[in-house]
Amino acid sequence: MSKPSVLVSGGAGYIGSHTAVELIRAGYDVVIVDNLSNSEIGAVEGVRKITGVEVPFVEADCCDEAAFRKVFEQYAFDSVIHFAASKAVNESVHKPLEYYRNNLTSFMNVIALMREYGRHNIVFSSSCTVYGEPDKQPVTEQTPRKPATSPYGNTKQMCEDILRDSVGAYEGMKGIALRYFNPIGAHPSALIGELPRGVPQNLVPYITQTAAGIRECLSVFGDDYPTPDGSCIRDYIDVVDLARAHVAAIGRMIEGRSKAAYEVFNIGTGRGVSVLELVRKFEEVNHLKLNYRIAPRREGDIVAIWADPTLANNELGWKAERTLDETLAAAWKWEQHLREK
Ligand code: NAD
Ligand code: WQD
Repeated sequence: MSKPSVLVSGGAGYIGSHTAVELIRAGYDVVIVDNLSNSEIGAVEGVRKITGVEVPFVEADCCDEAAFRKVFEQYAFDSVIHFAASKAVNESVHKPLEYYRNNLTSFMNVIALMREYGRHNIVFSSSCTVYGEPDKQPVTEQTPRKPATSPYGNTKQMCEDILRDSVGAYEGMKGIALRYFNPIGAHPSALIGELPRGVPQNLVPYITQTAAGIRECLSVFGDDYPTPDGSCIRDYIDVVDLARAHVAAIGRMIEGRSKAAYEVFNIGTGRGVSVLELVRKFEEVNHLKLNYRIAPRREGDIVAIWADPTLANNELGWKAERTLDETLAAAWKWEQHLREK
């Protein structure tokens, strides 16, 4: 019998490439489609090197229906993990139409083609951003979504709704939205990792680039928040752990263990870590001193958010396993590897 096959859209990207590796390790066949708008072919080569499998790669835009259709005609996958999207929150405020077009069109194309070609299971990359600034910590899947504060966040909410309504209407289709908290780190092999373009907006790439001397100084955005050390708190999830959550979600749908056609899971560690704690941990684990300063608050930042991952622990049989030490060591190893290339 042939192995179950999974289409990974956006599979050349940060989370998609790590997920492709974990799917292959779990025995799935994988096909990657990506338009390389925010990634490089080197990530697919990294996946091939780590796994020893010549993963098929199609360079195509999921918004281009005709090009995307060819992937459905050529490959017999029954499940899709849809990572393909534009993801820079701040950029989305300045280019709303680009974000709505890319994130919504690609997603609606996936669902329409799945329906037409009789493919059944889909995992959607959602985000803790749908909770906005929560009234209570930690957040469960029942925590109300807040009105989105950026077009990017709005696309995540809209895609969740499109998924819920579609699997409700189309017989035989199942969907899982995974709400990621803050993904960080890299594969321990340092063959794949995050590839930020330009000046990093996210904390960990800014830290590693500062440690590498590419950036002069990390700005810690605010030390006067109502938190124990005054800096913001997040739930940092290792990208390999996050990748494994997708394998668990796909397995649940393929094996018929879903409890509803549409399900939502928080994917986090359950532990809140402050910016200053993370900086100190990075220094300690990697035996270096980081140049940083306290800067004013960044507009739009929420004070704190961390996950209650109980539902994913119990229902997906998934749990974050890698320690923050391992994750920050892998992030630094990846940064060094990038500089050697
Ligand atoms: P990424 O940019 O590294 O990966 C996305 C990939 O999709 C890229 O390789 C890009 O080239 C590709 N892509 C974009 N539009 C496409 C299109 N129309 N057709 C084909 N390929 C396309 O980002 P990531 O961090 O790996 O994020 C993956 C998914 O997870 C995204 O949907 C993102 O919104 C979501 N997410 C990310 C985070 C995070 O902090 N990284 C947090 C929550 C949710
Ligand atoms: C983390 C913390 C900053 C950079 C974003 C998106 C969210 C989701 C995950 C996709 C914050 C502080 C950062 C720096 C700093 N993505 N920081 N100096 O903002 O929690 O979430 O990524 O869905 O939607 O908004 O992540 O990594 O930008 O920031 O002090 O140079 O680090 O203030 O407290 P964020 P981040």
